[in-house]
Amino acid sequence: MRKLLLATLMTAAVLSASVPPLFSQEHDRAAAMDKKVRAFLESRAGEWRDMNVPEADGRLLRDIIVKNNYKRALEIGTSTGHSAIWIAWGLSKTGGKLTTIEIDEARHNKALENFREAGLSEYIDARRTDAHELVPKLPGPFDFVFSDADKDWYKEYFDAVAPKLIVGGCYVTHNVSDRRWNLFGLGGYVDYLKGLKNFETTFDDRGAGVSISCKKREK
Ligand SMILES: C[S@@+](CC[C@H](N)C(=O)[O-])C[C@H]1O[C@@H](n2cnc3c(N)ncnc32)[C@H](O)[C@@H]1O
Repeated sequence: MRKLLLATLMTAAVLSASVPPLFSQEHDRAAAMDKKVRAFLESRAGEWRDMNVPEADGRLLRDIIVKNNYKRALEIGTSTGHSAIWIAWGLSKTGGKLTTIEIDEARHNKALENFREAGLSEYIDARRTDAHELVPKLPGPFDFVFSDADKDWYKEYFDAVAPKLIVGGCYVTHNVSDRRWNLFGLGGYVDYLKGLKNFETTFDDRGAGVSISCKKREK
């Protein structure tokens, strides 16, 4: 019995000594980041009033990024930064970066303040400009796109970015549903996405409705 106890203690000692310090530093850094972002989001719960995504959609965006190890992300429509914070939280785990675009100066400035407070500024390149002009000029490539600006331009944004999305990358559109047909008059856009041969589109209705269009290899 004593021998077994000794052997167990020795094994535990060897295992703990073999955890590389860099790994444990990285783990501590990620844990501190999680704590800070969670505290920020909890402090703002129920206070996002600038057309921001509900929490369920934010969580979904973060989880898609982490699950697929996406690194190069684009958001069209920052507003005050709720969705960008969830996206950048995911990117803080994969070592990626988000470019996000907002035309309204006051909302852009508020978003910058929120990014600082959440501790996520280093993961976000926030541009204040018209996405109609900037999006077609962005070189890409992108692993992940979240489209949440002017709905009558959704198709134009998609067509401009789709060629710059990597195979296996996903393009997520907000306020779109397959079940609640024609939400925001976007039935035509939904049909368009579903008809694309090189994209597989699924839907998630837990929040305000999103389509998730992932790029397949062209046959
Ligand atoms: C639904 S809100 C985005 C909410 C944000 N994704 C969030 O969850 O916090 C849409 C935003 O897109 C911005 N927007 C609309 N048209 C735009 C354009 N052409 N270029 C850039 N931003 C635009 C609006 O000013 C608005 O703040």
